[in-house]
Amino acid sequence: MCGIVGYIGHRDAYPIILNGLQRLEYRGYDSAGIALYDGTDIKLSKTKGKVSDLKSKLENEISTEGTLGIGHTRWATHGVPNDVNSHPHYSNSGDLVIIHNGIIENYESLKKELTKRGYTFKSDTDTEVLINLIEDVKKNDDTKLGKAVQVALNQVVGAYAIAVFDKTKPNEIVVARLGSPLAIGIGEDEFFIASDASPFIEYTKNAIYLEDGEMAIVRRHKDIKVRKIKGDAIVDPYVQELKLNLEQIEKGGYEHFMLKEIYEQPSAILDTFRGRLLSKEAIIKMSGVEDNMKKFLNADRIIIVACGTSWHAGLVAEYIFEDLARIPVEVEYASEFRYRNPVITEKDMVIAISQSGETADTLAAIKLAKSKGAFVFGVCNVVGSSIARETDAGAYTHAGPEIGVASTKAFTTQITVLTLMALRLARAKGTISSSDFRMHLLELEMIPQKVEEALKSDSYVQTIADIYKDSKNFLYLGRGYNFPVALEGALKLKEISYIHAEGYPAAEMKHGPIALIDEQMPVVVIATKKGHYDKVVSNIQEIKARKGKIIGIVTKGDESVKALADFVIEVPETLESLSPLLTTIPLQLLSYYIAVYLGKNVDQPRNLAKSVTVE
Ligand code: AGP
Repeated sequence: MCGIVGYIGHRDAYPIILNGLQRLEYRGYDSAGIALYDGTDIKLSKTKGKVSDLKSKLENEISTEGTLGIGHTRWATHGVPNDVNSHPHYSNSGDLVIIHNGIIENYESLKKELTKRGYTFKSDTDTEVLINLIEDVKKNDDTKLGKAVQVALNQVVGAYAIAVFDKTKPNEIVVARLGSPLAIGIGEDEFFIASDASPFIEYTKNAIYLEDGEMAIVRRHKDIKVRKIKGDAIVDPYVQELKLNLEQIEKGGYEHFMLKEIYEQPSAILDTFRGRLLSKEAIIKMSGVEDNMKKFLNADRIIIVACGTSWHAGLVAEYIFEDLARIPVEVEYASEFRYRNPVITEKDMVIAISQSGETADTLAAIKLAKSKGAFVFGVCNVVGSSIARETDAGAYTHAGPEIGVASTKAFTTQITVLTLMALRLARAKGTISSSDFRMHLLELEMIPQKVEEALKSDSYVQTIADIYKDSKNFLYLGRGYNFPVALEGALKLKEISYIHAEGYPAAEMKHGPIALIDEQMPVVVIATKKGHYDKVVSNIQEIKARKGKIIGIVTKGDESVKALADFVIEVPETLESLSPLLTTIPLQLLSYYIAVYLGKNVDQPRNLAKSVTVE
């Protein structure tokens, strides 16, 4: 869950690394550090805090010269966030320096061994153990850095993306990956290394994404040698052309990435169905589904695995797959699924959902499902991510980079992809009539415009946020398709404003949470016209009778809820199955503005990271 950046070439490495770390801060932001080779020695500066803290410290501490360097932004796993535990880490001799994203699980036994051999450790990190293991191999086997890294990694259990260089051979950086992403940008006589391509997109459009179990020696004025970490196989790397542009990863005038991403949803959803939803011809084209249609149609059931917001998108999909395509669906937390010896057969179809495509638990669940013979279909946003590559087939959401830690456009575009899939399968199975299918396509096509309309509630939501920002608890209620939206609304509020919030199926309220309701408790109720509307109105009556404060999310023109609620936020009318794409918008805005009013760091909330690449 850390971000790593490296550079070797003819430019000053410092600004490239610093800027790159800023772009990767979504991956972790509790400490940061940079090591530069200035022509004679390594200059290293690191600190607890953000990349901006590092900048002020580093520029007072060391010279920023050098055309070779590595940098790191951290999300602590081993050892508290402090200056010493920050990366980069030196080896004992001071010749080698390393940055690492991941976890070395057997670091304690390796550390004991190395301690016996006289090594000492300044930090509590697993990474410092790894760099000394590399040094030990290099010294004992009298070998080059590349070989030493390979031998050392073969003794390691865990996950890593690493970059290492040696000040006595300052013409190369050795990198390797297993379970954490690593991209190498190829410029004109220069190379860039990073956890994703964002740190180098203004310099090159050509990149190699290392596969799990591969390492590379990146050499100044030369080429890149890629090989397997296990065995002697040399790899001919695939050079990919990057589609990302600078504008996509900048804030574009918004105060926060989260707000920008909320507002990008109309165009993101449009991008998701571009080339897939052909309403005139009344067809849905999805090659990943088409190529595996038989498998989908013959599947006994679909198991969805995901975490967090992606899991909520999976819950929405459960309703839509069962409702339209009549396929039984189970939705599992990937973290539970992977450890509970689930019954999976070759007749199961597994769908893994992940924005980042790097979530460790989801990756492990995929591997488990594959080992039991299930076919795994991925729904990912990040192109070329580990999950996209690990799955048997898939569909990208095409939401564009999501940088705010709180997922927004990833959620709505995941639901869009899953809705397209459910409709396509329903058509193939004959569980939807052609007129119903056509109507769904037309309604789906209208969603971007309706999201745009839902966004117009922005200033009204700000007013509501201001009124309730000091509440200690929130309850979110919804039914059917909108129950997962209630969970998502509560998650958004918790993660960025640190206010306790719970999402519940509206009818479950009377089985417990109703005891929490008093005049201090704001209850956000999704009460759109279709989908058990009358029952939800009864639930609202129950809240009102107990003096709870009601914020209703209603269909435009609704009068009944308006008469009961303290506030209502209107969303345009649509099909019940598509309503989560609209009802989620005011909930995203509400959590955003509450967090802003409370002065929280919206894009980088405490203790979180954008992609959770550890268990
Ligand atoms: C959402 O706002 C979260 N920050 C988090 O729950 C996230 O959805 C989860 O970690 C899964 O990530 P993924 O979609 O990248 O796999």
